[in-house]
Amino acid sequence: MDGNQDIQASHSALRHRLESGENSRLALIVCDLTEALGAVVDKHRVTPKELRAVVEFAKHIGLATDDRRNEWVLLLDTMGITGAAEAVNLNRPAGVTPHTLLGPFHRDKAPFKNSGDTISIDNIGTPLTFVAQVVDLDGQPVIGATVDVWQANGDGLYENQDPDSQPEFNLRGKFQTDQQGEVTIRTVRPAGYILPDDGPVAHLMELLGLSMKRPSHIQFRVEAVGFETLVTQVFDRSDPHLEADPLFCVSPELLADFGDPTSSGGCNTRFTFKLAGSQPGASQH
Ligand SMILES: [Fe+2]
Repeated sequence: MDGNQDIQASHSALRHRLESGENSRLALIVCDLTEALGAVVDKHRVTPKELRAVVEFAKHIGLATDDRRNEWVLLLDTMGITGAAEAVNLNRPAGVTPHTLLGPFHRDKAPFKNSGDTISIDNIGTPLTFVAQVVDLDGQPVIGATVDVWQANGDGLYENQDPDSQPEFNLRGKFQTDQQGEVTIRTVRPAGYILPDDGPVAHLMELLGLSMKRPSHIQFRVEAVGFETLVTQVFDRSDPHLEADPLFCVSPELLADFGDPTSSGGCNTRFTFKLAGSQPGASQH
């Protein structure tokens, strides 16, 4: 019996043992996962030494994880698994604004603001006026939608990462769309930031030659009665790191002009968020 037959035999035995289990979905996923991993071992002739390195890596992922930091989540995010799990469960119609990860920096209780207000409490940074319009799939304005916005500052830091320097709820706010489905958000240009780079995931990314640098973006959660809630990020078209976003959130539909990055002058930009109805054919203007 060669190695490949050994692997097949153990997979068959495991599948047989799990067939009578109570949780058939879990059993099926465990079987498929072990078979996929076994196929990798077989294809690449993984050595015991390499397998021990994998175990050691997993141990360090666990050691780097605590109540404030989850290195496992970072691993799944940077390997595209989180995004894949969200994508296969969204099932949204063509034409809606792409959904992206919520990320760890969102806060539920950001203050409500009036259209035209600034979300920059400390007033530090290059001014940016962002007009957001919310429409349905027919292009009709969605009135009374809540636009929840949050972003990093010009140093690439969110307020809850930087409590000693930024006032609470700096660069966060909730707005309601008007009769044209629009809100005007006054803010400052955000900078990109580096994902936690002192743990085992960053070490793996370095070994693979992959970037931990996120391109500059503003995050949004758009909610309206009768529509699917949209969580997304709008990216600075001029950012040189768009192609290498470690979280795979960038797509052509999510680019906007945040202004000339070499200029300290302000910039106006517009972006249209297209929502899907929460039921087939739902449309609420
Ligand atoms: Fe972000």
